[in-house]
Amino acid sequence: MVLDMATSRNRITKAVIPAAGLGTRFLPATKSTPKEMLPVVDKPAIQYVVEEAVTAGLSDVLMVTGRNKRPLEDHFDRNYELEEVLRTKGDAAKLTRVQESSDLATMHYVRQGDPRGLGHAVLCAAPHVGDQPFAVLLGDDLIDPRDPLLSRMTAVQQERGGSVIALMEVPPETIHLYGCAAAAPTGQDDVVRVSDLVEKPTEAEAPSNLAIIGRYVLDPAVFEVLRKTQPGRGGEIQLTDALQALASDPSLGGPVHGVVFGGRRYDTGDRGDYLRAIVRLACEREDLGPDFREWLRGYVSKEM
Ligand code: UTP
Repeated sequence: MVLDMATSRNRITKAVIPAAGLGTRFLPATKSTPKEMLPVVDKPAIQYVVEEAVTAGLSDVLMVTGRNKRPLEDHFDRNYELEEVLRTKGDAAKLTRVQESSDLATMHYVRQGDPRGLGHAVLCAAPHVGDQPFAVLLGDDLIDPRDPLLSRMTAVQQERGGSVIALMEVPPETIHLYGCAAAAPTGQDDVVRVSDLVEKPTEAEAPSNLAIIGRYVLDPAVFEVLRKTQPGRGGEIQLTDALQALASDPSLGGPVHGVVFGGRRYDTGDRGDYLRAIVRLACEREDLGPDFREWLRGYVSKEM
């Protein structure tokens, strides 16, 4: 009985998706449209992220939103007018597509008044999350649905406790774009023990080429640490700084481990990666792929 209570208290059921950033790398598209709503083929980027959370068993989703982010809420809500038009026309396929996003998960929203950084956005989730480990998925980071990452991270967290971050090997000359982990091997090939984290280090400062990517499974102790975290780089409260405190003192909230991801990932907040995501996912789609691949082959051979 005691064991059951402990197990249910530690089960991961909630996902937090910070989506309150300004998206300045994508201006002017993001002047009045959230970058998370930009379509990747025919679905907004954020829908892939919510689908990923649900596939990993997390159907309670809290989205941290801000100014101009109303379309995010509308996308995951019913649109009765549109549904009625499609129903009257007898267009069942399109009706299903419209309803998919509103039937996906139990959605909750909290607003981050000022975008004071990713750490501050995560702190806005504290009242909803309570005292359980929870997942964080960045709204502009897209993990290919065929390369599961989050379910592996939740399994590692359940096995080892504490917090788990997602890491990816990147070319050393690009490490200054990411948070970077100092890590030691464990008995498992894809799991490392994290001892230190540095936000956007120079190539010379970087302790490794392991970059932090936008998936986390966090112990709730992170909230207390975030409350004490001073604004860091760029005047923002950095999640990496709070994780660094957890990694260097396991008495705060258990160890920090990293799952090293070798699959396909796109930063849809970056224009180049956004284009690559669309081309790749479109090529692989059963309905669009055959025609699109043929066109692309011709384009590449003639124009490039
Ligand atoms: P980014 O570093 O991509 O920042 O945030 P940004 O403001 O969204 O985009 P750029 O760099 O200006 O183009 C990483 C994630 O953290 C969220 C963003 O929405 C994104 O999912 N975030 C960032 C917040 O929710 N609040 C913040 O204050 C900052």
